[in-house]
Amino acid sequence: MQKKTVRDIQVKGKRVLVRVDFNVPLSDAGSVADDKRIRAALPTIKYLYEGGARVVLITHLGRPKGERIPSLSLAPVAEHLRHLLGGRTVHFIDETIGERVEKRVEALAEGDIILLENVRFHSEETANDPAFAEALARLGDCYVNDAFGTAHRAHASTAGITSYFDENVAGFLMEKEIDYLSRLLDKAESPFVAVLGGAKISGKIDVIRNLESRVDRLMVGGGMIGTFFQAMGLEIGDSLVEPDRLDVARDILGDLGEDKLLLPTDVVIASAFENSAATQVVAVDAIEKGWRIMDIGPATVERFSAEIQAARTLFWNGPMGVFEMPNFGIGTRALAESAARATDKGAVTVIGGGDTARAIREGDFEDRISHVSTGGGASLEFIEGRELPGVASLTDI
Ligand code: 3PG
Repeated sequence: MQKKTVRDIQVKGKRVLVRVDFNVPLSDAGSVADDKRIRAALPTIKYLYEGGARVVLITHLGRPKGERIPSLSLAPVAEHLRHLLGGRTVHFIDETIGERVEKRVEALAEGDIILLENVRFHSEETANDPAFAEALARLGDCYVNDAFGTAHRAHASTAGITSYFDENVAGFLMEKEIDYLSRLLDKAESPFVAVLGGAKISGKIDVIRNLESRVDRLMVGGGMIGTFFQAMGLEIGDSLVEPDRLDVARDILGDLGEDKLLLPTDVVIASAFENSAATQVVAVDAIEKGWRIMDIGPATVERFSAEIQAARTLFWNGPMGVFEMPNFGIGTRALAESAARATDKGAVTVIGGGDTARAIREGDFEDRISHVSTGGGASLEFIEGRELPGVASLTDI
């Protein structure tokens, strides 16, 4: 990685301000429902407190839009972090900036950790307000960004704040994310296979365009295949379609060709958008009116899996069907297992965040994937080849 990391700075006795992404789902009871992002930041946090830093953690949670919303307080996250650190004290303060916070931070001893209240309780955060960024910067002697999941946002705590420090360094999670994702763009070992799914082609166009010259195979599933099939003149019944993207779909079909772009050959269709709806498996040219595509079919699963097994590099983002309904998650679950087997055989496998990461976790395959990104939007923008503000503002080596 071409950026400085936390290894490059002296931390002992320093107030080290660490932007983390603890934007995690909470249960109805208000406790942390999925702690992957918190666990992913532990190597940086441990390195810092073991090195005698006074660790100040900043994060957002949800989108409170500048309002103090009690259900989006970070108090339960502090509690969870305490638990993950084996009962180590994690201080929490119900404010993010200001004199009271500054005093509390100043009073920290070496190795202490404090988590500040939700930075998005201030509208100045998302506005990237310079005065707010400066107020945050007053809380640290050094700045570490380990919030890869938020690196695509130019906010005060991810971008603006960096102008107040001589050096801005990456944490270990940020470093790992950049290493794996940039490997896909710069030096992916062939065969390089990409699998893209999800509801809409519009969200994946730039990813397809940036990967097309790099991959050996690009396989597409999920809701967006309706738009491809319609562009090919096939009947798609009540399937999802983006009528204003038919031209884009036609261009992609023409540019990539049948050798590189693999579309499903069979699909699971349903009579309604419900888990309990009647289903059929049909060839893609036999979709009836009144039915809709809900998953890829078994022949497609086999074909896609064979490509994944042959891959030396795999990037996968987006489910193959309506994965949140158990009956239509079969294709996604099968590919998750296939990705795990490919890793066992030595392939480098990288999973974009969001639903795909969930499929990997639910199948208990996390340990058998080279890298499951903690960033949904951020990993996609990275693969699109866009500059992420949270990465660009880190100091070059
Ligand atoms: C995410 O969950 O993708 C990040 O935490 C960024 O959150 P945001 O989409 O609300 O900016």
